Amino acid sequence: MKNADLQARKNAATPRGVGVMCDFYAARAENAELWDVEGRRFIDFAAGIAVCNTGHRHPKIVEAIRAQLDCFTHTAYQIVPYESYVSLAEKISARAPGDHPKKTAFFTTGAEAVENAIKIARAATGRPGVIAFTGGFHGRTLMGMALTGKVAPYKIGFGPFPSDVFHAPFPNPLHGVSVEDSLRAIEQLFKADIEAKRVAAMIFEPVQGEGGFYQAPLEFVRALRKICNEHGILLIADEVQTGFARTGKLFAMQHYDVIPDLMTIAKSLAGGMPLSGVVGRAEIMDAAAPGGLGGTYAGNPLAVASAHAVLDIIDSEKLSERAVVLGDKLKAKLNALKSEVPQIADVRGPGGMVAVEFCKPGTSDGDVDFTKRVQTRALERGLLLLVCGVYGNVVRFLFPLTIQDAVFDEALAILEDVLTETIGATV
Ligand SMILES: Cc1ncc(COP(=O)(O)O)c(C=O)c1O
Repeated sequence: MKNADLQARKNAATPRGVGVMCDFYAARAENAELWDVEGRRFIDFAAGIAVCNTGHRHPKIVEAIRAQLDCFTHTAYQIVPYESYVSLAEKISARAPGDHPKKTAFFTTGAEAVENAIKIARAATGRPGVIAFTGGFHGRTLMGMALTGKVAPYKIGFGPFPSDVFHAPFPNPLHGVSVEDSLRAIEQLFKADIEAKRVAAMIFEPVQGEGGFYQAPLEFVRALRKICNEHGILLIADEVQTGFARTGKLFAMQHYDVIPDLMTIAKSLAGGMPLSGVVGRAEIMDAAAPGGLGGTYAGNPLAVASAHAVLDIIDSEKLSERAVVLGDKLKAKLNALKSEVPQIADVRGPGGMVAVEFCKPGTSDGDVDFTKRVQTRALERGLLLLVCGVYGNVVRFLFPLTIQDAVFDEALAILEDVLTETIGATV
């Protein structure tokens, strides 16, 4: 099989709307390495867009799925339930922030978790409104798109969107938005667009993913909690990208002294199997009437088995601690390169949720060209990197947290070469 042949077939068989970054095709993958159909090796710093924090084909995950395959693959939990769903809900509820009673429901995709969190919030409050933030990404379903604070490419041509969704600016000091600006804008929304007592929920990412790995400042998250408390609004933390040890804690909200009412989870929850969930205050989770939540495949037993293995691996391999060690090493490397690579405007991110932002030297104008060149050159050298950010000028690093030290060091050496060569090539 040749990549070029597959590329021609793909272009004829699948729509361009399913945009594909790479022009090579996966044959197999193991931990942090991936090989294409022509036998070329890549170091995978994309991890299936933050899904494989526990690496590709971790033996415990393979074993868990295999064992489940031998029992049953699907009954539809809403028809014939199974213990593994219940025990996973118990584990997630116990580990989510807050000492209050919690419940967890499982779904399939991140967008579906977001949809259901909004449904639950509306059912619990009897209110329609939702406030989301610019630069936020919440999925490609209609409500997911409505909540997403980034038009291109996610919303173009797909409206009209569900109503009663409003956006306030997410704090971003690098681009001139302070916490005060964001909070003032929320007060403005209550004056100009919707009265506070008609707002069901505010949804935010503790660290924006697609939006550029900007972390919500502590005073901002505290202020959101205060506004929500004042007006009876529910606070939803979208942890789809931040969850499962990526930021150095099981959940990013554990970096804050703020408890969300609901939390959405997906991606690395099940290490490559499609599984998502909503976890939150038991009385709020119970607001939806029986039959109002679920889905044919929601909480699929193979995915649930994989998620049990993921939690076990995170604990036994101390992946939260490992995220911090690896993230610090990467940030130190990038910071050390700042003097040589003037495009490096910012190096940031908690634990292993690291990003580097490139701007035209001496300005805060995003250098999209430079960013693309870095990504392309890295790929030529066998390192798979993802770009993100409202301005498309951020490289995010989503290496499996299980990556071997030697492979991580190899990737860092490639990154250093690529950054210094790219700066050379632009002069
Ligand atoms: C924070 C956040 N929410 C929701 C989603 C949507 O998840 P999915 O693509 O699984 O529907 C994503 C996906 O990137 C995300 O990062």
